[in-house]
Amino acid sequence: MKNDKNYFHRFVGYQIYPKSFRDSNGDGVGDVLGIIEKLPYLKKLGVDFLWLNPIYKSPQIDGGYDISDYFAIDEMFGNLDELKRLFKEAHKLNFKIIMDLVVNHTSDQHPWFLASKKSKDNPYRNFYLWEDATANQMPNDWISFFGGSTWTFDKTTNQAYFHVFAKEQPDLNWKNPELRAEIYKMIRWWLELGLDGFRLDAISHIQKKSWDFKIKSWRANGPWQPFMNVTGIEDYMKELKDIFNEYGALTVGEASGVLSSDAPNWTDENGYIDMIFELEQNVRRPDGSGDIYKFKQALIRWQKAQLERGWNALYLDNHDQPRSIDIFGDGSEISGKALAVAYMLLRGTPFIYQGQEIGMTNFPFESFTQLRTIENIRHYKDLLKDLPETEALKNVTINARDHARTPMQWDKTENSGFSKNMPWMEVNPNYETINVVENTSIFKLYQWLIKLRHDEFSISDGLIKFYFEKHRTAFVYERNDFLILTNLGKTKANLKFDFKIEGKNYQQILGSKKCELSSKMTLEGWEYQVFKKISQEENGNETN
Ligand code: GLC
Repeated sequence: MKNDKNYFHRFVGYQIYPKSFRDSNGDGVGDVLGIIEKLPYLKKLGVDFLWLNPIYKSPQIDGGYDISDYFAIDEMFGNLDELKRLFKEAHKLNFKIIMDLVVNHTSDQHPWFLASKKSKDNPYRNFYLWEDATANQMPNDWISFFGGSTWTFDKTTNQAYFHVFAKEQPDLNWKNPELRAEIYKMIRWWLELGLDGFRLDAISHIQKKSWDFKIKSWRANGPWQPFMNVTGIEDYMKELKDIFNEYGALTVGEASGVLSSDAPNWTDENGYIDMIFELEQNVRRPDGSGDIYKFKQALIRWQKAQLERGWNALYLDNHDQPRSIDIFGDGSEISGKALAVAYMLLRGTPFIYQGQEIGMTNFPFESFTQLRTIENIRHYKDLLKDLPETEALKNVTINARDHARTPMQWDKTENSGFSKNMPWMEVNPNYETINVVENTSIFKLYQWLIKLRHDEFSISDGLIKFYFEKHRTAFVYERNDFLILTNLGKTKANLKFDFKIEGKNYQQILGSKKCELSSKMTLEGWEYQVFKKISQEENGNETN
């Protein structure tokens, strides 16, 4: 690989949710050997690096984001030797591998927390955030992301501990230099082992406001203001950055609360990380459908904000969202394709979430027993107090991240070729038609888009300019000599450029139908087109 520090501009990432990717030993749970088995598939797709969702030892309260041992692989996924083999095999094929760095919190079963709980003077007490409280009176009224107070009372010491996620995920105390030293040791250990970098989980929450901060309802970030990118976080991020730089680690941050205007400070040449996932694009209407106009506006805002400095991480699906093909698309393959073209050619590094490349869809939940994420099961049970079962289920599943976590659909054999035995989560019943073997058309489109990013500097590193920004569904932009037009809606879009376009100066290089570029275009529902400017030479016109 060339030794340029912006190599990731040409890269495309692939996100693997290991539990549901490929089960090699028939216990119903995906595993590390399963990932090794499928490396050739990923090579064929053409991606450059893989992000593995957490496979560390964990009680699995939050899909592995509750880690009880940072140095061990959970038995259900395999062991460390197998993981080292994965690193080796992946590197042979020129893949980089990154894993989640979950350091805002640990599991409540982590030995640090078990020790911390014991007494106020335990040496690990200060690894977490404890404050005086009573069973009925918490230190403040802050609310956690998963609902309820950010505090849980513990009667052993008559204090409460702080958690921005579930109560089984106590937050670490980043103010404590001893804690930070332990975390940095762990990061180095992984990079020494051969890991190429990290996806920094929930990293914008590691710094909190002082406990007496009052939430102001009119401010951005609603009830979560007290732990969203709070001043002081820079010091910790700089320390992290120094380690990443030392190893040349590839880093992407999940940093909700970092505003687009601040993002370049996180990701430019002097920033803490290579790129950032924004969460503002996930705008939903009350019925659960995506608001494509707001989605588009969020993307445009972030693209513009990081044009001169900084770098975006681009995505449609991930393990926390229902499938985009159903949310922003209408479930049809063509809508999945239009969305793919719309985001894959933006400025930034695109991530493809497993199954997205074959058009995997949401799961038709019929019973709460099919849910697997704890916060949704808890929410469902809560709702049952006021709602009938069907209503409660609808309410919970409309936005459930369970949709994205069903087993990968490899083929039409039993259990979709994911496992020989009953999978830990039900396979989507549409696996007989939507799978890697049958559904090659959207896969080929992804292959093509990835290749274009690799081959064309204009797409990997070029500038971006938007047209028809205020149009409800048309998403149109220029990347130097490329013009990309998509209609992210069912109804036709009539477009009129306010300058003259000579169709013959452009070559159609991709399209959902054949057509020539002109100043006036009508795009069908879910139509996509990519045009490339023909160089003057090729056009036989060398005079101007
Ligand atoms: C991130 C992860 C999510 C997890 C949370 C807590 O948002 O993407 O899956 O629940 O962090 O670790």
